[in-house]
Formats: sequence, structure tokens, C-alpha cells
Amino acid sequence: MNVHDSDKIVGILSESDHGTADSIEEADVIVLNTCSIRQKAEQKFYSELGRLRTIKKNNPDLKIAVAGCIAQQQGDAIFKKFPYVDFIFGPDNIDSLQTWISSRIQSTDNRQQKTALRENPGYQTKILPMKRIGRVRAWVSIIYGCDNFCAYCVVPYTRGRERSRPCKDIYDEVVSLTGQGFKEITLLGQNVNSYGKNLPEKIDFSDLLRMIHEIMGLQRIRFVTSHPRDISEKLINTMRDLPKMCKHIHLPVQSGSDKILASMNRGYSYRDYKNKIDMLKAAIPDIAVTTDIITGFPGETDEDFQLTVNALSEIEYDGIFAFKYSERPDTKALALPDHIDETIKSERLSHILKLQEVITFQKNMEMEGQVLEILVEGMSETDDKNLTGRTLTNKIVNFRGDPDDIGNIVMIKVKEARQHSLHGEKVKSRK
Ligand code: 5AD
Ligand code: SF4
Repeated sequence: MNVHDSDKIVGILSESDHGTADSIEEADVIVLNTCSIRQKAEQKFYSELGRLRTIKKNNPDLKIAVAGCIAQQQGDAIFKKFPYVDFIFGPDNIDSLQTWISSRIQSTDNRQQKTALRENPGYQTKILPMKRIGRVRAWVSIIYGCDNFCAYCVVPYTRGRERSRPCKDIYDEVVSLTGQGFKEITLLGQNVNSYGKNLPEKIDFSDLLRMIHEIMGLQRIRFVTSHPRDISEKLINTMRDLPKMCKHIHLPVQSGSDKILASMNRGYSYRDYKNKIDMLKAAIPDIAVTTDIITGFPGETDEDFQLTVNALSEIEYDGIFAFKYSERPDTKALALPDHIDETIKSERLSHILKLQEVITFQKNMEMEGQVLEILVEGMSETDDKNLTGRTLTNKIVNFRGDPDDIGNIVMIKVKEARQHSLHGEKVKSRK
């Protein structure tokens, strides 16, 4: 979500005739787009902002803007503490960059803060100028904010209430993207499954998928992120029935312990969650499942942690994102008793990462010899002789090939499994 917001920021800057500077010292405008999901991201931002003090001293005409979730939550404090910051805007006000960037040229003192959360989708119904990376896959926002208030999570405070984007705007954006040659879109939101709840028209996420599916030229559809509670039978059947749907779901479980899930306010038990996974696997047997895990949430005992370990062994995810619990401002978890020692959080984190490494590698090994459909995205970042693409199950595959294949679907035989990718050989091409 944050990276996609950066595409919008770069799009607005490009449209106002700002190109990319060769170095930070040469920039006329610097926008720091911040993330506050965990403390580490916040620390990185503050040290980066500190570094800009000298840059601005040497270049007093430089304008510095701070965007994103930290700007939203800590705008006043940032203005007070960093007098060289000129403009602050939150994720609900990305369009205000358009006005600021044009007005700053006339004005010398133009410190502004735009952090009001908007009740209506407002600018979000429009298509902002966007500078997308690559020309094969694109993200499209479909829902903003979140109403779930998981006890650890800052998002409902920084991105505000859940608001669905009108389906016509989404449809038009996808039509425009396919017209530009994009082949795969990822529908984006904090909780895509609850799409449509606040819209005047009667539409849910499955209906939206069916609508998008009709668009000519579009070859693949992904979505992220889903809340386990909102996975319905209708959605599972839609995923099964629509041929352009990728065979992958990211379904954050967070913990395998019902006690911890309840105090996280997740709204499901591990059994409920596992039932949803079983339903998905019954409908789409080769579906890949990935998840998010938090270790060391307040009150997590060794027994609770063991239940998370058991969940990983039982479900055998294709991949996980795991994090140590991190205290976030305003969240309910701050007030919970029994916060966990940092060392224990780290030990638990490395335990599950190690366990998952074995599972992921095992799963990759099982794919050796298989012939898979790959959408070719571009040249490999690590080896400029290789092309890179993804399977329907979201596995990265590198192979020798012709750059003309970029944007095409090709068939690849998997030759070698690696820890984080597969290496293959092209067998026959299909447009
Ligand atoms: N501490 C650790 N992890 C967090 N996440 C969200 N908030 C926190 C936090 N305070 C993780 C969750 C979520 C993912 C995007 O980030 O696992 O699914
Ligand atoms: Fe945060 Fe929970 Fe909303 Fe996800 S569903 S954004 S974890 S509050």
C-alpha cells in the first residue's frame, strides 16, 4: 500500500515537471513517504530525516515534504522538531501534493500540513497520475482504511475508516492499464474481502472480481490482503471458477493460539481459520497460501507460541512474513499486561523463520520437473542474462530467454529449486 502511494507521489511530481534527481544533493524537492506499521520503519525515517538537515543547510532552496502514516500520526511533532520540513501530508491527502508543488514555486514560506482524514473517498475516486514500475504488473487500489482495529495495528488510526472505491472507477482504471499493455493487476486494500460494504450499489468483492475478469487483454488477477473472517464460500467459488484468477492467497493468521487471537481482536479461532484454508484447498487443490505471523504479542506464553509453531507445521505455508510484536502509538495492545521480553520475541521469531525455511525449500523442491505457466515480468535483478516471472502461485522463476518474452505467458519446466526462487527452462511459448 505504501509503495503504491509512492507511485502516486512520483506520478504527481512527474506531472509537475519534476524529474528524478541524480543525487539527493541535487534535488529541489524531497518527499519521504513513511510507514509506521512497526517501530523499525519509524526509526529508519527519523534517521533519514536527520540526515536531510545538512542537505538543506547546503541547499536552502530545497523543499522537504513528509508523507505517509508517520506524517498522519505525528505531523505536529515533526513540524515542531524539524523546522526544515516544509510540507506534511497523510495517506488520505496525497492529492494535496499537486497544489503544494505548484504553489511552492511562488512562495518562500509555505509550511503546510494536510492530515485530515476524509469521510468520503474524495480524490480517491479519481485516478491520480501514477508512475508505475515495470509494464507488466500493476496495483489498483479498491478499498482504503480499515475498521478491524486489531489490537496491535496502527492502520485504522493512520488510514482511517474503511471506504470502498466505486467499482466504475476501478473498472476504468483496469481498462486503461490493459490498454497500456499491463497484463496482471493486483487489487489492493487492507481488507479487500469486505469490499462494497459502504457503497450505494449492491456489490461485493466476488462481484467486483467477476466484473474485472471480463476486461479484454487482462490475463491475471491477484488481490491482497484478505481477512480470514471475511473469506466467504462465494469468494472461494469465484476464485475457483474464474480462469484469470491466480492460485494464491495471502491470509494472515498472526498466531496459532486462540487466547492470543482473541486478545489481538482478530475475530476468529485457529479452527475457524484452518477450516477456511481447508475449504480453499478443496476448491483449488494447488492453491499457494502465505501468511503473516507476529511473535511475542503481550501475554504470549511458551504454550501459545508452540501453537503457532504447530500451525506452521500443520498448514505448511508456501511462505510467511514474520515480525516481532512492536508497540505502536494509540493501539489497544499497549495497555495489555505481560509484555514480552525483546530477547524472547527475537528467539521465537528466528525459530519460526528457520522452520519455515525448511518448509518453503521442501515445497520448492516438489516443483522440480513440473511445467508451469509463467508471466514474464522483466530481466532478473540478480543476473542480467536471465528473465524473471511468476507462476500462478506467485513463485518467482528465473530462466534464460528472449527479452521479447517480457509481458508474455510462457511455459517453463522447473529445473532447480532454490530457497527463494525456482530456476527453469522454457519449453514452449503461449501468448
Ligand atoms: N507489530 C508487529 N507486527 C505488526 N503487524 C502489524 N502491526 C504490527 C505490530 N504492531 C504485521 C501484521 C500484519 C502485517 C502487515 O504487519 O502481521 O498482518
Ligand atoms: Fe491492521 Fe487488522 Fe486492519 Fe490488517 S485487518 S490493517 S492488521 S487493523
